[in-house]
Amino acid sequence: MQISPFKIERYFARYEFNVDYVLCGSDCESMTIEDLLAFEPDAADRFHRQWLGYTESPGSLSLRSEICNIYHEISPENVLVHTGAEEAIFLFMHAMLSAEDHVIVHWPCYQSLLEVARSIGCEVTLWKASEENGWALDPEELQRSLKSNTRVIVVNTPHNPTGYLMPGDTFREISRIAAENGIILFSDEVYRESEYRIEDRLPAACDLGAHTVSLGVMSKTYGLPGLRIGWIATQNEAVYERMAVLKDYTTICNSAPSEFLAELALRHRKALVDRTQKIILENLNVLDPFFDRYADRFAWQRPKAGAIGFPKLLGEDVEIFCDSLVKTAGVLLLPGTVYDDPGNHFRIGFGRKNMQEAVGRLDDFLQKF
Ligand SMILES: Cc1ncc(COP(=O)(O)O)c(C=O)c1O
Repeated sequence: MQISPFKIERYFARYEFNVDYVLCGSDCESMTIEDLLAFEPDAADRFHRQWLGYTESPGSLSLRSEICNIYHEISPENVLVHTGAEEAIFLFMHAMLSAEDHVIVHWPCYQSLLEVARSIGCEVTLWKASEENGWALDPEELQRSLKSNTRVIVVNTPHNPTGYLMPGDTFREISRIAAENGIILFSDEVYRESEYRIEDRLPAACDLGAHTVSLGVMSKTYGLPGLRIGWIATQNEAVYERMAVLKDYTTICNSAPSEFLAELALRHRKALVDRTQKIILENLNVLDPFFDRYADRFAWQRPKAGAIGFPKLLGEDVEIFCDSLVKTAGVLLLPGTVYDDPGNHFRIGFGRKNMQEAVGRLDDFLQKF
């Protein structure tokens, strides 16, 4: 298989574990195993007794049942657990696509959402988000992009990197277009449940019918990326079966300790969501005045969900800026060029507790340079 390097991940690989502040993480504040086990009085004992044999390939029934609580129309046989969302993206694309197929992808995007399809040989149309319209997508453009061989439409909302949260009517319109044309809607919902107002939360795509696949993960809103537990939820039996068959060639089954901890965490999902929400909103209270003060240097669109945004850097080159920031101040921002974005944006993350200190460092840097 020929596949281009994953630019975001390669950039992170250079810096993530040797800088003072990662100010562009898309995940939210994590916790220790001890913190997580403290949610239930006997959890530590049960964890110590966790059997370390192979686990059930689709994920344990108890974990899949817990995941079902996120959705309305989904039962355990509709959930296939993976090693992170990343494995699920890779397997979905390989399960559903061949070189003759056309795929439409919400863009800019987390690179694997388009790159795996490209590596298979598919024609990929980038469905571009409009910065002028708050990073919105135009369903009419989607309609115009359809071809007789369009097999998959990929959307991601809340969105990496812009933070865009789609309005419900647009989301339903996209689902309708996919259903009417016999296309699978692959909905990357890894930032779901991080909406700042509950009334803005979208339905999960998998609840809208068998033409859809929802992608979920423990990494983002629930703050547990180290578990490497993700999943797809779908009422589409063919998609499910093909992915399950391919999983035998990647990981076979998931880590037993991670399944135990993910299930425990999901039993306390509301507490985790509230914790994340609190951190994000406190951080936004710092970021808003910061961006007001530096309105001559950045154009900031405040998201309605999630822990990342995509401000535009004004008057200087974003790659040089990010490079100089990380080397002189030890603060990591992600230049938009790793998304092939030509608009001089960078990704900023505000899901971690040390964000205020990191912004302080950035502020000092801006005073000097
Ligand atoms: C939109 C999106 N999808 C999928 C993933 C992959 O998630 P994970 O790293 O937990 O597998 C990410 C991670 O950043 C992401 O931002």
